[in-house]
Amino acid sequence: MSYKIKTLSGYFQEYQKSIDQPEKFWGHVAENFIWKKPWDKVLSWNFEGPDIRWFENAKLNLTENIFERNLVTHGEKTAIIWEPNDPSEEERRISYNELFALTCQFSNALELQGIQKGDRVIIYMPMVPEAAIAMLACARIGAVHSVVFAGFSSTALADRINDCNAKMVITSDGNFRGNKNIEVKAVVDEALKNTNSIEKVIVYQRTNVEVTMKTGRDLWWHEVIQNESKTHVAATLDAEDLLFILYTSGSTGKPKGVVHTTAGYMVYSHYSFSNVFQYTEEDVYWCTADVGWITGHSYIVYGPLLEGATTLMFEGVPTYPHPGRFWEIVDKYQVNQFYTAPTAIRALQAYGLEPLESYSLESLKVIGSVGEPINEEAWHWYHDNIGKGKCPLVDTWWQTETGGIMISPLAGITPNKPAHASLPLPGIQPIIVDAEGNELKGNNVEGNLCIKFPWPSILRTTYGDHKRCKETYFSTYPGFYFTGDGVKRDHDGYLRILGRVDDVINVSGHRMGTAEVENAINEHPKVIESAVVGFPHNIKGQGIYAYVICDMKDKSEGELIQEIKDTVRKIIGPIAKPDAVQIVPGLPKTRSGKIMRRILRKVASKDISNLGDISTLLNPEIVSQIISGAGLE
Ligand code: WT7
Repeated sequence: MSYKIKTLSGYFQEYQKSIDQPEKFWGHVAENFIWKKPWDKVLSWNFEGPDIRWFENAKLNLTENIFERNLVTHGEKTAIIWEPNDPSEEERRISYNELFALTCQFSNALELQGIQKGDRVIIYMPMVPEAAIAMLACARIGAVHSVVFAGFSSTALADRINDCNAKMVITSDGNFRGNKNIEVKAVVDEALKNTNSIEKVIVYQRTNVEVTMKTGRDLWWHEVIQNESKTHVAATLDAEDLLFILYTSGSTGKPKGVVHTTAGYMVYSHYSFSNVFQYTEEDVYWCTADVGWITGHSYIVYGPLLEGATTLMFEGVPTYPHPGRFWEIVDKYQVNQFYTAPTAIRALQAYGLEPLESYSLESLKVIGSVGEPINEEAWHWYHDNIGKGKCPLVDTWWQTETGGIMISPLAGITPNKPAHASLPLPGIQPIIVDAEGNELKGNNVEGNLCIKFPWPSILRTTYGDHKRCKETYFSTYPGFYFTGDGVKRDHDGYLRILGRVDDVINVSGHRMGTAEVENAINEHPKVIESAVVGFPHNIKGQGIYAYVICDMKDKSEGELIQEIKDTVRKIIGPIAKPDAVQIVPGLPKTRSGKIMRRILRKVASKDISNLGDISTLLNPEIVSQIISGAGLE
């Protein structure tokens, strides 16, 4: 690729070009792809709408840039290495030629089952290559995929199906995760009781668990592809045709469907992959995320495959069957770039160095971090013990909405500074604003992180509700995209992300709206009111702490707490289950009826030294009751 940056001065030059002449810059990058018809204009935009169009009127198919563009040179190269949950099961290696054939077969099957351009298809699958194949097949025919993390509950799945009016679900019979065997198809069946748009369900056989197949609706993956051709003519899509919807949590209401479109996402997911990880031809690259999150979309599937890279997909969990599993996999496949989340690092750090002893980790050239701020201790542990002090560590800041990495060192190029996401990628114009929206220029400043100019993979809308997109991202500081994160620019001009400044918490790198968890808790018939806050958690980064006012008749406190946790698990999924539930007689409220979360956060953090002024509360006496209820006196 002619746009790979190789030196620090090269980075500064490219950065400057991208700011001075963004259209020329991205037009040049985009020339590296194949287009069925070139664009009329690189960019038209305003953030008021918002209305953002990249590579206007161009026609293309993203998968032609993965396959047709690369097959001549990379056909026999391994595209996906798949490592199963159980290390005694055989791995799979799928070449680009094979992946192309499988994608074409499945594209034909989708079309035969009535899926057309623009239809929404839900993918609710374990970490198997077929999850990626399903995504690619949708992209090939112009269907819009929406991958739902297979750990979400049937209620959460049904909500997403209904929100985007999906026509099909692609799933599996079951899912092996660690020592668990999850009955995925049964969750889908449950969800479909509360939806009415789904016409077909395709089921990939993974665990052989018994499932009920509804005649006329449910089909086996291996049967639908059986007679299908291994070639397929890619659909001609517009640059701004929807590529996918991915649901994510915000500070209010239900999760929203972040919309990404074809051309801009393609260009930026690849540009960022190539430059941040500095992948070179023979490398084996591994990102440990799940395809159910944006990290899996951009940096397991699209970015690496557009590069023609070998991307590793791991079905299991870091500690099964032993806490050295990650390092065993690194050695087994001689992984060169390894990309994971701080929560995984901290979890493994807790086992000490012994699980590392049998592994050399010599192959590693680059290590990466994503999903939440990485604390300095974890940064050093990762850098010293996994990167052996010699691998550059890329701390990559970005979001579901940004589609790709926004602020990060470029591996081996940008000098590392522990716990700093460092510098923006070319094309990215971050600014720091104060509470009034004034830009804080210069170094040694702290405030809210905004982006002042569009980049190719910025979200275009929130599905079915453009107003919500405007309100959430473009209204807090008019004229800018607001990220929801706090940030500091240090004396060297390096950026350090400080975490969310809104009512969003980050639990093990998963984003959770406090309101969403409260809504789930409130579904319990005995619950009167609840307030959820985050608190510092050694492994998860943040844990979930719920204060709940309950009707205490007929139930013990212990029973209620357990039932509340179960309710959340059932409504959202295990990742949202509160770590702590405290039954309280009341919640601290201001005279206007707003819950004073500041106090609740302090108590949850076991830090009551400085609660600030509580005299303005409607019910100041409640504070000491909550403190003693938390056992802090
Ligand atoms: C939020 C986005 C981006 C893929 C995974 C999460 C936090 C993400 C970092 C980082 C500090 C980070 C932010 C952001 N975050 N990466 N390197 N340092 N914080 O995607 O679920 O959309 O969450 O994750 O708070 O806003 P997401």
